[in-house]
Amino acid sequence: SKRVAILISGGGSNMVALAQSMVGDHPARPVVVISNDPNAGGLAKARDLGIATAAVDHRDYPNDRSAFEEVLHKTLEGYQPDIVCLAGFMRILTEGFTARYEGRMLNIHPSLLPKYKGLHTHARALEAGDNEHGCSVHEVTAALDDGPVLGQARIAIEEGDTPETLASRLLPLEHKLYPAVLRSFAANDKTPIRF
Ligand code: GAR
Repeated sequence: SKRVAILISGGGSNMVALAQSMVGDHPARPVVVISNDPNAGGLAKARDLGIATAAVDHRDYPNDRSAFEEVLHKTLEGYQPDIVCLAGFMRILTEGFTARYEGRMLNIHPSLLPKYKGLHTHARALEAGDNEHGCSVHEVTAALDDGPVLGQARIAIEEGDTPETLASRLLPLEHKLYPAVLRSFAANDKTPIRF
């Protein structure tokens, strides 16, 4: 089966959803969870799931993104991943890195791309007066939060919503969407998934 590396920066709830989905006849399996923050809560969750973990602390490479990415790449190489999933990974990756994983790296982003690339997506959807919001899973290319969208899930924005209420209504959908896209992607099926 395909070997999946998952990159995280925080709590890792999407990583857990991905890992727990890769069971039974699934075409892929998790081989490592890597964080740029050695204290990320998701690392302990990965260990509890029996998955190998590693940390590559970006703060050890101040003002040197390529040195950080070189170590991240070396660490990944040790696990020979077929697919790399960014799951709440909050470092911008340069073209030097993304080119190495072209066509085999996925990201989940909390907006209906191409809307609201970058940060503060929930606040920006509210400020724009949007009546819907959502999350997207896309293939990673050199441009930030760009690349072919493989799946989207939508929620309605209601009166009185805040960035926090949007985030908490969206997260359970992220946990459904990302595993659904990964399963298809690992089976070489890129038909967009929508719900
Ligand atoms: C998720 O909402 C994910 O979509 C978002 O960070 C959260 C991570 O939560 N990702 C980004 O903002 C990427 N720029 P998690 O650590 O519990 O999966």
